[in-house]
Amino acid sequence: MIKIKEICKLLLLLLCYESEAHVETRYYPRYHIAPLFGWMNDPNGFSFFKCVYHLFFQYNPYSSKSPGITNWGHVVSKNLVDWSHEPIAMKPDEYYDKDGVFSGCAIVENGELVIFYTGNVNLENNSYMHREVQALAYSKNGINITKYANNPIIKGNHFQPNFRDPKVWKEDYIYYMVLGNSLNDTFGRVLLYQSRNLINWEYQTVLAQSNGTLGYMWECPDFFKLGNYYVLLFSPQGIKPQGDKYRNLYQVGYFVGEFDKETKYFNILTEFREVNRGHDFYATQTMLDKSGRRLMVAWNDMWGQSYPESNEGFKGELTFITELSLSSDLRLIQKPIRELRKLIVKKLFSGKCSADVLLPDKTGKAIIRASNAKDFTLYVQDASNNSNKVTVQYNSKIGYVTLNRGGEDGIRGAEYKPSTDLCLVMLVDASSVELFFGKGELTFASRFFPNGDIIIRQEIHEAYNFTVYMIRRSVPFPE
Ligand code: FRU
Repeated sequence: MIKIKEICKLLLLLLCYESEAHVETRYYPRYHIAPLFGWMNDPNGFSFFKCVYHLFFQYNPYSSKSPGITNWGHVVSKNLVDWSHEPIAMKPDEYYDKDGVFSGCAIVENGELVIFYTGNVNLENNSYMHREVQALAYSKNGINITKYANNPIIKGNHFQPNFRDPKVWKEDYIYYMVLGNSLNDTFGRVLLYQSRNLINWEYQTVLAQSNGTLGYMWECPDFFKLGNYYVLLFSPQGIKPQGDKYRNLYQVGYFVGEFDKETKYFNILTEFREVNRGHDFYATQTMLDKSGRRLMVAWNDMWGQSYPESNEGFKGELTFITELSLSSDLRLIQKPIRELRKLIVKKLFSGKCSADVLLPDKTGKAIIRASNAKDFTLYVQDASNNSNKVTVQYNSKIGYVTLNRGGEDGIRGAEYKPSTDLCLVMLVDASSVELFFGKGELTFASRFFPNGDIIIRQEIHEAYNFTVYMIRRSVPFPE
């Protein structure tokens, strides 16, 4: 009896110790969304309601070391770049979500923010054996959220145990929902449901499925119209590496095709393509903004990575938001949203010669541009340790880009052969680097962990124009 009491005391002490832990700021982002303390994974419920943008996220408020039993964290913004934190939006407090308020989405209907998410329940204390159901919640003010009394709305008995991450949209008075699923733990797939009232949902079809080479489970599906086509975006688990492709534990990829609403047939016109070629990009979430832009955000991290920030009070951040479009050959183009301009404080450097540029607050936007593609090398370097750096290199002869962050598995690479100009936009923020080549047809997102100041150093061909701007803080800082 005494023993149990002692153990409980010790556990409580450990919990208190961690929840009061100080968050170190050397790796903490200045303009990317991150938890003030604790663990973050997928972005959820990206939406615009009553003049405010809402972004929710998978959140463990008690520890930065494990996802724990996830809650929905919540940040809001009026302009998509200046964000503030709100109280936890949803907790795992119902019988059907007691082991995790998993990922989902939000739409605005009938003057309310309507939320769909997955309730997770572990069976027999075994996290592999679990049951996932779809649940509904709503809010009149976007902050206080009420779970629907008759949840779950979809039990999906035939589709257990991997049946999650609802994404809902409305077209011609009908609501559609896509869900991530696995057939026999072997074939990842996306299921399509339909409803006329947001509560009663009917299963329609398998929208797309792995042919055996595209993973055993597809998480976080999203399906939307872009230009004249439909894009199916999803996060497959279990794709084997192939040369320089699929090097991360899990990927985000897409198909572009045509969708027939009558027959519910998705006619896929492209091969499967990875959305981002860096180390840290997963579980995307998109929304259509009021001006018709399709905006995308992802978890700027990856399952299986243990980064040093988790010893300093926080884990995970979101990518910078991008605007999506399609190229004429049906590739996804991702451009940092134009609101980025609001964050630019001053020009730190502009010229055509090699230079070392110190970033005053570990933040920067660098642009390199040339009318003809030539070789270049760019370093994002820890000023306190020359060997801790990200090296970005372009080899014009073979038309190939590499990003090397050092350490084990440091290199990611991709073919890149611009027909005329070469342009690279690079966003740096304390512990992340995001690269956008050309109009955004090739992107990389990778974390790296400089202890000291950050210097951008370029050894470029003189044909290149090189410009570096400082970016201001726009997210709350744990001080
Ligand atoms: C993706 C994911 C989702 C799930 C959530 C749980 O990273 O595994 O499929 O809903 O994370 O946190």
